[in-house]
Amino acid sequence: PAPSLPSGDLRGVRVLVTAGGTREPFDPVRFVGNRSSGRQGIAIAADAAARGAAVTLVTANVDAGLTEGLDVDVRPVGSALELADEVRAAAAEADVVVMTAAVADYRPAEVHAEKLKKDAQGDTLTLELVRNPDVLAELVANRRTGQIIVGFAAETEPDRAARIELGRAKIARKPADLLVVNHVGWSSGFEREENAIEVLTPGGEVVRETSGTKAEVAAAVLDLVATALA
Ligand code: CTP
Ligand code: CA
Repeated sequence: PAPSLPSGDLRGVRVLVTAGGTREPFDPVRFVGNRSSGRQGIAIAADAAARGAAVTLVTANVDAGLTEGLDVDVRPVGSALELADEVRAAAAEADVVVMTAAVADYRPAEVHAEKLKKDAQGDTLTLELVRNPDVLAELVANRRTGQIIVGFAAETEPDRAARIELGRAKIARKPADLLVVNHVGWSSGFEREENAIEVLTPGGEVVRETSGTKAEVAAAVLDLVATALA
């Protein structure tokens, strides 16, 4: 389908988007990470800019080629702690925050100054992980009046009703304005162009359900954001 014409419905709105997946280092060359490519967040940032928004895009380990030429302020980060710092600073200036990034829930308790050597480890290696701050929960707790906050929940649950229940529990815990539930699996959702979503309100209502390209999903989410701002 042809991309919709820029509507200008976000003109002058300051939008902060996070994209990609954080990497949690445990030595200078190794990390614990996830498979998020950043494409869905980039699609949201690009569409917001096309609608007239001033966009800040915090990218966690996103291929720089994917954001080249976009009319957005790109701020690359690596770990969840770095993402948290960048988002805390930028959120103070944002009318809308869309947390698309896959933020690691845990990071290695210890970051070794030198490469771990297997001779010193033996046949098994145990990494102790500690909890990262929940950035979305912080944003919701510190939300300014009128600020719109959107969370994304990647869920592997294949059953739609069960997936929506997981989303309801999540938005009840962290009452963002909208929660986009995104079905992911070994071969869906990540590193691909197609995405399937259900969008929930804090009350647990499904206000939008669609599947399509990440650009189509971005447009659907920003339609809801524009409505919420109006
Ligand atoms: N998120 C965050 N900070 C974290 C973890 C998650 O800001 N430390 C945000 C994500 O960017 C996303 C939302 O919270 O917008 C939901 O993330 P998700 O991993 O689906 O939910 P969790 O609350 O972490 O629950 P769980 O992973 O146990 O399902
Ligand atoms: Ca998580």
